[in-house]
Amino acid sequence: MNIVFDGKESYEAILERAYAVSARIACEEESLIVQGDNFIAMAAMLQNYKGKIDLVYIDPPFNTDQIFSVSNSRVSTVSRPRKGKLAYSDAMTKDEYLRFMYERFVLIRELLSDRGSLYVHIDTKMGHYCKVMLDEIFGESCFKNDITRIKSNPKNFDRKAYGNQKDMILFYTKTRLGIWNDLRVACTGEELEKRFHKTDGDGRRYTTIPLHAPGESSPSSPTGRPWRGMNPPQGRHWRTNPCEFDRLDAIGRIEWSSTGNPRIKKYADEHPGKKIQDIWTFKDPQYPIYPTEKNSDMLEQIVLQSSEEGSYVMDCFAGSGSTLAAACKHKRRFIGIDQSEMAVEIMKSRLGNTKYAFFDLEDH
Ligand SMILES: C[S@@+](CC[C@H](N)C(=O)[O-])C[C@H]1O[C@@H](n2cnc3c(N)ncnc32)[C@H](O)[C@@H]1O
Repeated sequence: MNIVFDGKESYEAILERAYAVSARIACEEESLIVQGDNFIAMAAMLQNYKGKIDLVYIDPPFNTDQIFSVSNSRVSTVSRPRKGKLAYSDAMTKDEYLRFMYERFVLIRELLSDRGSLYVHIDTKMGHYCKVMLDEIFGESCFKNDITRIKSNPKNFDRKAYGNQKDMILFYTKTRLGIWNDLRVACTGEELEKRFHKTDGDGRRYTTIPLHAPGESSPSSPTGRPWRGMNPPQGRHWRTNPCEFDRLDAIGRIEWSSTGNPRIKKYADEHPGKKIQDIWTFKDPQYPIYPTEKNSDMLEQIVLQSSEEGSYVMDCFAGSGSTLAAACKHKRRFIGIDQSEMAVEIMKSRLGNTKYAFFDLEDH
């Protein structure tokens, strides 16, 4: 299924236009801040950064038909600016917006490494169109998650509709090999007590799980063969090669019931933590330094999950530099692009003494 909008160009035509851009950006060892339009900036990076970026997070304008400004250090959102310094404008027709995003997704894909991931933070008004565009550009098999981000407390709008407390983050990888560090979140004390309700002689909390799991394996596979005269129940297979059960039993990790039913013991103090799910609660700063500044803990989680030390992490709608700060904190190299002078000033002061190269596209 392909999306249709006015002025749509093919992937190849967009690339051809990008390769015709004469500006060049290169300083491969360092982090980078670029001031200017991100299509031109990414086009200028193609020669030196193609296939080298491990993680891209973007929080583009959501096509809200608003203008974001800052006045007396207070961030405001207005339909038309009366006072204050313009941070950025977010007013395009829908077709213009789709064309704008489509051509940037193409360049992002070109810049991503084969282990690269893209997180697109967007609202639910434009997000579904972006999902269809990304499926087309990256391929449906590279879609990983549509993450629901709870962004605020419940709201009481006058509008005759449900309150809007969420936005969405679309997560794609370039290939099947995307970096995935399998971050875990620690269980609370209460969760551990509930999950690990038994206590052994040494006072360690534990629970037990069956030796078998759903699904039959072929009788020729070790997980389908009998163990100590027992077969896995119908429709199930042993969790692992039964030799492992002998080892676990020898070290006291199998609990036998009075009726002879074996179960594996799992200890609370060895639990790796909970897998992160696709509903996140990360509220944005109450007093932002820049319009729509995003939550730093959320960005750190994304950086830690989908990149490695030394990776390039890019945000080409960088705003106040929240992604760059998260990347820098965890020893990644960052690439931040923004066309707003105010955004670039703020991100530079936020990054303090960090070392990076700076390019102003107007000078190239
Ligand atoms: C929603 S804000 C990003 C806020 C950012 N996530 C933060 O935490 O501060 C979007 C940013 O995209 C920038 N932007 C919009 N269009 C752009 C373009 N064509 N090229 C570069 N930057 C652009 C705007 O100037 C704005 O700073």
